[in-house]
Amino acid sequence: MNATDQPGPTVFVIFGGAGDLTWRKLGPALYDLSQDRSLPAQFAIIAVDRIQLGDEGLRHRLHEGVNQFSRFGKAKPAAWNQFAQHLHYSQGDFKKPSTYTALGAQCAKLEKLWGAKAHRIFYMATPPSLFGEIPKYLGRAGLALDRAWTRIVIEKPIGYDLESARALNAVLAASFEESQIFRIDHYLGKETVQNMLAFRFANPLFEPIWNRRYIDYVTITVAETVGVEHRGGYYDHAGALRDMVQNHLMQLLCLVAMEPMVSFQADEIRNKKVDVLHAIRPIPQEAVPQSAVRGQYGPGRNDGKKVPGYRGEDGVARDSQTETFAALKLFIDNWRWQDVPFYLRTGKRLPRQASEISIQFRAVPHQSFPPESSLGWQPSRLILAIQPDEGIVLGFQAKIPGAKMQLRPVEMRFNYHENFLQRSPDAYETLLWDIMKCDATLFMRADQVEAAWQLLMPVLRGWQTAPPSDFPNYAAGSWGPEDVQGLLAHGHRWPLPTELAGGNEKPASIRNSI
Ligand code: BG6
Repeated sequence: MNATDQPGPTVFVIFGGAGDLTWRKLGPALYDLSQDRSLPAQFAIIAVDRIQLGDEGLRHRLHEGVNQFSRFGKAKPAAWNQFAQHLHYSQGDFKKPSTYTALGAQCAKLEKLWGAKAHRIFYMATPPSLFGEIPKYLGRAGLALDRAWTRIVIEKPIGYDLESARALNAVLAASFEESQIFRIDHYLGKETVQNMLAFRFANPLFEPIWNRRYIDYVTITVAETVGVEHRGGYYDHAGALRDMVQNHLMQLLCLVAMEPMVSFQADEIRNKKVDVLHAIRPIPQEAVPQSAVRGQYGPGRNDGKKVPGYRGEDGVARDSQTETFAALKLFIDNWRWQDVPFYLRTGKRLPRQASEISIQFRAVPHQSFPPESSLGWQPSRLILAIQPDEGIVLGFQAKIPGAKMQLRPVEMRFNYHENFLQRSPDAYETLLWDIMKCDATLFMRADQVEAAWQLLMPVLRGWQTAPPSDFPNYAAGSWGPEDVQGLLAHGHRWPLPTELAGGNEKPASIRNSI
């Protein structure tokens, strides 16, 4: 980002401005944008919430958040004071028209002061129960009318299932046009996720082999070491499938599997992604046990410390049947991917934090070397590491130095930090800036969200009708339930996450499967 790219005058309204998301993510991201000189001079943040806080209270609260979470570290007084001038607090009930009338007047006042028309961004950082309400009030107050100057931003969960997602999309569509609606999936703002497009479509090297002829299977892993933290109440009604698979993992799958885009236009890219979702083979409800595995963590150890099981977490029912681990086997019925399995897994309280995509290539068609030369032999593998390690690893075979012809797997590594020597912006920074620039490329369209729900509905229904009998079925600090191995076809493996930082000394052959 640079100063010449700055958006025009902007009023950034945050509903839920006194809440956790604003404190932890939105405040720090907007502050970081200001430090990058990416915000316009005519810029205001209006935080709206129910509690009494006042401008000073808001500034104090966000200052703390910035000090903890900004990528620039603790805010320097001059920089903070400069930023704080843009912060305003407005107390109001989200379900009272007067809140919106006052907001409209406040926006108009700022525009008058600036002598310029401003973009108005309405960000719903509230509990999901208000997602269906705020757009209606904005619509009734006439605050959504100016199509080119007004945007609304919504966070996941976008619905609880297909039906509620459709209903929510309909509420949004009643007041806003699709081009005004920005549905956030913060995974799409991650640098390494965006780099997948660059890697695939800016390099001719891999595209010719990016298909069923050369690729045996793909695994997508999003492993977390954390439990449900302070979000037990929300999570216990969601579970891993709704919380992670419906959005983040599906988006990663789309980026791996999509066809090349013709141009870097928001709808062109989103069309290509939605094509993937439409091509995924539906899972019939009776086939759910062969295609999906769920798990819930019990007590165990994380980072050497004892941790409670999921049912012992705050806000979680003591007999909860919510899954904290979900894995799926999917197939994409098109020319490129027919019969190539895509294995997806995500879980909480796993041994390592790692989001990675592994592309496992097929074995050579004929083994020309004598059997004893290739004891640790493995087909080539490409790993796209998203976090916390950020980079790309290509595993292939090399000859071990010496008189004998012996092979073993080696790796070529690209490490983001080593190459670019700078810290990537937080995903929210990228996404907020895109919203201000009205670039919807990294946001989910209504049809994408609904297509992803549609795919998962048989699994949700199947799991609901047959409650798990074995929960908790994995110990905190393990790689999930045993059953997850059963999803894999013969010879396929869940790979261990790679270690880019500091290099992994172990050859790929000894860090195979788990
Ligand atoms: C959120 C989920 O969308 O993503 C959380 O609700 C999860 O449960 C989080 O922990 C993971 O995000 P990240 O960026 O830390 O991988």
